[in-house]
Amino acid sequence: MAGLPASPSHSDEQRYETTTLVRRLVAEQGVLYWRRYALAFLLMGTAATMTALSTYVLGDVINASYVQKDFQKILWLSLAIIVMFIVKGASTYGQQVILSRIGNAIIAANQRAVVAKLMRESIGFFANRHSSEFLSRMSAGAASVSQILNLLITSVGRDLLSLLGLVAVMIYQDPMMSLFGALVAPPAVLMLRKLIRRIRSIATTQFHNSTRIIETLQESLQGIRTVKAFSLETIMQARIDGNIAAVEQSSNKMARVSHRSSPMMESLGGIAIGMTLIYGGWRVLDTGATPGQFFSFIAAFLLAYEPAKRLARLNLELNGAVVGARMLFEIIDSPASEPDDSGKPALQLKDARVELRDVEFCYRPGETVIDRMSFTAQPGLVTALVGPSGGGKSTILALLLRLYDIQRGAILIDGQDIAAVSRASLRRQTAYVGQDVYLFRGTIRENIAFGKSDASDDEIFAAARAACAHDFIMAFPKGYDTPVGEHGAQLSGGQRQRVAIARALIKNAPIILLDEATASLDSESERHVQEAIDHLCHGRTTIVVAHRLHTIMHADAIHVVEGGRIVESGRHDDLLRLNGRYASFFRQQHRGDTLLSPLSEPA
Ligand SMILES: Nc1ncnc2c1ncn2[C@@H]1O[C@H](COP(=O)(O)OP(=O)(O)O)[C@@H](O)[C@H]1O
Ligand SMILES: [Mg+2]
Repeated sequence: MAGLPASPSHSDEQRYETTTLVRRLVAEQGVLYWRRYALAFLLMGTAATMTALSTYVLGDVINASYVQKDFQKILWLSLAIIVMFIVKGASTYGQQVILSRIGNAIIAANQRAVVAKLMRESIGFFANRHSSEFLSRMSAGAASVSQILNLLITSVGRDLLSLLGLVAVMIYQDPMMSLFGALVAPPAVLMLRKLIRRIRSIATTQFHNSTRIIETLQESLQGIRTVKAFSLETIMQARIDGNIAAVEQSSNKMARVSHRSSPMMESLGGIAIGMTLIYGGWRVLDTGATPGQFFSFIAAFLLAYEPAKRLARLNLELNGAVVGARMLFEIIDSPASEPDDSGKPALQLKDARVELRDVEFCYRPGETVIDRMSFTAQPGLVTALVGPSGGGKSTILALLLRLYDIQRGAILIDGQDIAAVSRASLRRQTAYVGQDVYLFRGTIRENIAFGKSDASDDEIFAAARAACAHDFIMAFPKGYDTPVGEHGAQLSGGQRQRVAIARALIKNAPIILLDEATASLDSESERHVQEAIDHLCHGRTTIVVAHRLHTIMHADAIHVVEGGRIVESGRHDDLLRLNGRYASFFRQQHRGDTLLSPLSEPA
């Protein structure tokens, strides 16, 4: 998978260091919720106090039973312990709910930020990335951010406070004995530090591999027809299996490494407890210390063990979670490839004259795709671009929509350079229908209304009629409320195309761009769609890319595009008389059409 920045620079490395990233998270996102965090913190403090208090009281209970033999006191103290645990339970509940809610808010906010960022990216940004990459970055990344912040607050609030309370009890009961507990800290810290680096690299591999699974799965499902038609099931299965195996492997590695601390920590804890017991027992037997003191200490010590262990592992956990946060920030931080330009003046249309002036463009440096091209699409007329595949026709339409910026020359609409006006105003005035029609999940009605957000039903029906779509839509049991799924799978190619034309019609844009809109259709559907297109283009400046020449025979101007240049221009008859490239294409197709389907022979 292509990581977002082509090669992470040194400054990127620094920027995404664990400590920098965690600090940034706290400063940018954590502080927004400080009130709720404070409340959660308070509740955690309460719970910690209750824990410490209960171990302290335990000492009194033991003394009441063994030394004072006072049953009344035992009853009261036990009752107090019950109350303490109830309070602890209630505070823990409150704190957990608060933290989960903050977590959810953080996840939602980050997901919104990613979506907002993606909407400001250009087509080029997405061209060499798999859409699933963003899915996993968004879901895993946002979850990591909330995980990190909650990890921090629980570590400080729950674990650190509990530890402090318990240590206070230990020191109060027996300062000397507390020293034994402290002995194990240095070796534990040393050991954990070594594990951290490993964890981070494994977490990164794991993330990339999981993304791969989603990518391949999504591809297989979207292309399920091709998969089945070519019997690619086993190949696709094998690909995904490979990714799954890789994730399983790195997860296992992660498990081995991250839990490597456990046996060591448990042994160290055992040693500390053993030594404490020996010393404590000796104190009771030899120096006459009360058993309550001893018990209270042991209880506090045992309870302190868990929070101490979690605190020691904090850095480990943070380093794992930081990988996700980094994936998220890489998207959010990279400069938008289509930055907000709403400050630029809007395109002002008069006649909708479109002019290319010495336009030069390449997708990749050094590979010129459009080579000093100039032509004018006259207002209200149809300008056709024809020529061999790969010549640059679709690219010209993309440039007119400013999906890419040109390197040299200018594209003018009514004398205004499209680079100097806001993209939104340019695209508002332009309706585009391509070969692959994209219908969004929803009803046919909604899909047409995407062309004009406040369209009334009458407008929608009128557009559908003009697009020759009304009749087939009404033939569905649910009519305009027929749902169309992912890619509009329920409709045939010609039907989808007509829904898309209705969507373009309702937009009522003065400039129409058509890219081989009928190329993939059979001649019956093509006839319907062609009629729809004629309605759409009527009286509007139209630039049409056509593969089948008979669809553009009546165009007002025809340009033959080859290798990024216009090699011939004129009207159909002129070009035939010229007997050049166009004439040879035409003869080729004419012959082909006659052979394949005599019915569609151009009149
Ligand atoms: N997104 C892209 N990235 C890089 N190269 C591209 C891209 N789209 C098209 N090209 C290249 O640009 C050239 C022109 O493509 P295109 O405009 O689609 O031709 P046409 O529509 O005339 O068939 C082709 O050589 C193609 O490989
Ligand atoms: Mg094309």
